[in-house]
Amino acid sequence: VTVYVPRDSAARSVGADEVAAAVRSAADRPIRVVRNGSRGMLWLEPLVEVATGEGRIGYGPVRPEDVDGLLAAGMLDGGDHELRLGLVDELPWMRGQDRLTFARVGVTDPLSVDDYVAHGGLAGLRRALERTPAEVVEEVTASGLRGRGGAGFPAGIKWKTVLEAAGPLKFVCCNADEGDSGTFADRMLMEGDPFCLIEGMLIAAYAAGATEGYIYIRSEYPDAIDTMRAAIDIAHAQNWLGEGILGSATNFELFVRVGAGAYICGEETSMLESLEGKRGMVRAKPPIPALSGLFGKPTVVNNVLTLASVPMVMADGADAYQARGVERSRGTQVFQLAGNIARGGIVETAFGISLGELINEFGGGTGSGRPVRAVQVGGPLGAYIPASDLDLPMDYEAFAAAGAMVGHGGIVVFDDTVDMAKQARFAMEFCAEESCGKCTPCRVGSVRGVEVVDRIIAGEDRDTNLDLLEDLCELMTDGSLCAMGGLTPLPVRSAMRHFSEDFLARDAGD
Ligand code: NAI
Ligand code: SF4
Repeated sequence: VTVYVPRDSAARSVGADEVAAAVRSAADRPIRVVRNGSRGMLWLEPLVEVATGEGRIGYGPVRPEDVDGLLAAGMLDGGDHELRLGLVDELPWMRGQDRLTFARVGVTDPLSVDDYVAHGGLAGLRRALERTPAEVVEEVTASGLRGRGGAGFPAGIKWKTVLEAAGPLKFVCCNADEGDSGTFADRMLMEGDPFCLIEGMLIAAYAAGATEGYIYIRSEYPDAIDTMRAAIDIAHAQNWLGEGILGSATNFELFVRVGAGAYICGEETSMLESLEGKRGMVRAKPPIPALSGLFGKPTVVNNVLTLASVPMVMADGADAYQARGVERSRGTQVFQLAGNIARGGIVETAFGISLGELINEFGGGTGSGRPVRAVQVGGPLGAYIPASDLDLPMDYEAFAAAGAMVGHGGIVVFDDTVDMAKQARFAMEFCAEESCGKCTPCRVGSVRGVEVVDRIIAGEDRDTNLDLLEDLCELMTDGSLCAMGGLTPLPVRSAMRHFSEDFLARDAGD
């Protein structure tokens, strides 16, 4: 019997290791315990699955003290128990999704090459290698895949710039410094299907002509760091790296580098500085990294999910990917439900689904049971969307038109007890804390921003201070060197626009 107990760090944080040990020691017959990734239904973790003739039957959330009872109820044969959920693939949460990038996450053993290949792994790379690099770039462009890190720049166009740049030395850098609040998809992909990221980077290296790759992972992700390092070692042993799978023309080496806890190192040029061993400071653009990136060489910089989407794009072809989604937002996005939500986790689905469907149908509304008041989409630099706008479709342009951004797909829900003036203050405070200090609008503006919001909250000369905050936001938007200072006004302005009562109607000292 094969029993699956996730080793994803979200599952481990609620006792998955103890549950795995309990199942191993208490089982009355030989069993094989696979430590898979998480299926993304985080409220059910630790989710134990048992492979039966019918399919994989889930039980969850399982505590170590539940294990004896589960085994007595015949869990190893799929027996009945109050924690029995039925066939995991048939649960409404799973059936409602269209998992492409996350197809294997939670399903396979993350470090098993056999499992990887048996579930479609390497098909994309093989198909890519039957084409010229320019044809691969063309296919990725035709798929409509856009950068999943947040900015949504077309991946194929970026790759084409690197391919056509002169010089023998080029790099592929994967940005795994997932710093946005409410985001965890990069981590779950790296912990649950690390070979998928390696395959995506191999395809990118082949397409762009790069010979060295770096995965820059935040230090807060120790499990992802270990899993990626182990996967790279296995990839070496399998001859996928070095002069292996890509051939001697592209002797591709891949390394993990660990960040040191600075949010700004998720900004691509800061990340490159950090990779070069320097302090994470933003570089002025141009030149863009595609032309002058790591050590001044042409560099593909993509987010984990962008690179991990490429194997599927290449395996099934551009048309299959392009057939999903709406307008210029094609394919799928891995949405992350967090904050005050009844059912938090990962929902991968085609663009075009509404914010309300994600929060209410998948997420089950707020965790507190109170009405939703505001939703922040796209991390700490994303806008707050009021409950009245939950019909907004998940689409880069529709969000931009509404003064918001899809970003990396993180969705943080707040109920009606939230104080939006304090959230606006938090945005400025976050910027003051995380600013790299290179430009004045951000370095000084954010500190002044906190002070102005404090005066508004205290009820001091409110009209003047609201005007001042508006002016400050305009200056930061127009004058900041990068998205850190440039986007901080987004949450502040959206809070002032949609929740003006929190700024106006409060009593002094409230
Ligand atoms: P950007 O719009 O300046 O650039 C997007 C990407 O396209 C970059 O890689 C850039 O080098 C590339 N690019 C631009 N023009 C190009 C050209 N002509 N040829 C080739 N490549 C070109 O946006 P930026 O500043 O890189 O990212 C901002 C976004 O980052 C925000 O929208 C936000 O959503 C997101 N973000 C994500 C975080 C996360 O944890 N994932 C954290 C903070 C922000
Ligand atoms: Fe640095 Fe902020 Fe300027 Fe970006 S906007 S370069 S983080 S000071």
